[in-house]
Amino acid sequence: MAYIAPRGTVDILPGKSEQWIKLEQLLRTISANYNVKEMRTPIFEHTELFNRAVGDTTDVVSKEMYTFEDKKGRSITLRPEGTAGIARSYVENKMYALPEKLQKVYYMGPMFRYERPQNGRQRQFHQYGVEMLGVESPYVDVECMLMAITVVEALGLKDVKLHLNSLGDEESRDAYRAALQEHFKDCLDDLCYDCKQRFEKNPLRILDCKVDKNHPAMKNAPKTIDYLSEKAKAHFTKVCELLDDLEVEYEIDTNLVRGLDYYSHTVFEIISDDPKLGAGATVGGGGRYNGLVEELGGPATPGVGFAFGMERLLIALGDEDQDEEGLDVYLMPLGAEAKDLAMQIMTMLRANGFTCDMDYCDRGLKGQFKSADRFNAHFSLILGESEVENEVVNIKCNHTREQNVVKLENIVEFIENHYEGGHEHE
Ligand code: HAM
Repeated sequence: MAYIAPRGTVDILPGKSEQWIKLEQLLRTISANYNVKEMRTPIFEHTELFNRAVGDTTDVVSKEMYTFEDKKGRSITLRPEGTAGIARSYVENKMYALPEKLQKVYYMGPMFRYERPQNGRQRQFHQYGVEMLGVESPYVDVECMLMAITVVEALGLKDVKLHLNSLGDEESRDAYRAALQEHFKDCLDDLCYDCKQRFEKNPLRILDCKVDKNHPAMKNAPKTIDYLSEKAKAHFTKVCELLDDLEVEYEIDTNLVRGLDYYSHTVFEIISDDPKLGAGATVGGGGRYNGLVEELGGPATPGVGFAFGMERLLIALGDEDQDEEGLDVYLMPLGAEAKDLAMQIMTMLRANGFTCDMDYCDRGLKGQFKSADRFNAHFSLILGESEVENEVVNIKCNHTREQNVVKLENIVEFIENHYEGGHEHE
């Protein structure tokens, strides 16, 4: 039997993993730039957390979760997103009692959703997410959006747009919910089974139904923005003013409702029109969730955040810009004694901070030079019988093609002095 990876999962192999590391490093640098600290929560949580936080009428919870019973019969779910776990941990670790009222955290890691795999959509995928908890100010909404924009700009992604909407506070949503029920009540018979359930429980979810998305009633459905309370309207107006002052381009998208239940007030998405992803693909999204922490048993605490799909960022980035770093030294022993000595020299060079590798396959010079080439080695260090006898090595700089015979005790000094463009390691 041939073993293959489960559908919707991807192996990240050497050659590609370097791109991931680069992306991760960039995201860590941007996080530090915004004074956002890393937080790591478990990859699995009690199922009830997601039912509660994300909402059991959402597609994510009702159709896409990887849920199983553990050996003690507890229902466990592989996290489909990161916000619920962060909010749970915030409450459990009493982070609301910390002296700094605004807690800004980020996370990076795998998420799991049982979806139909396609370009940029997997069952195990990765998110970089940011959550800012504790302060209700529209300035913090804007801080989040600025950060999301910094990410796409730092990556040089073109054809991206910021879409923005407001779902309002509880008062606004009650009014909106009533308006939606009024709107859909006459065509309820035409809608799918799920929408009929949603109509009672959570009519907002009708708007992101994949089955009924082309139904005429969807097009002229009421808009959240027309049902905002005074307070919610003031919050949204301030968000827009701040973005205008900062000359951030955005588009108010009154159809934007997001697929998770915890949102209130500002919601936003970063949409890409890059053909590599397919027009209108969402690379990231987020919004405010003022009720979530309280819903999970904590004190009333506002929050706002966003997450990017890291696979989508990498697809949009494309395969250009892959200047893989080469090795400092590739050691080429010829014969058994030379191999022993090569291992000793290599260990010494590594201890001095050089990146090194050697041939373990007893190949001739030609084969070994090919490897030195593939590894883009700055120096080849050739060790034949006569070199072993005379306690020297033959060092070839693969850039200048110059060769020198160097005494064993002078290898480090020689390499340091002959490094074209300087050696970065200590
Ligand atoms: P989301 O919109 O469900 O939001 O997911 C955020 C991003 O994750 C999406 O824009 C997309 O790029 C990526 N994504 C989602 N599903 C998949 C998939 N199956 N394959 C590949 N990429 C995917 C959230 O998860 C919220 N927790 C964001 C947030 C944080 N809101 C407030 N704080």
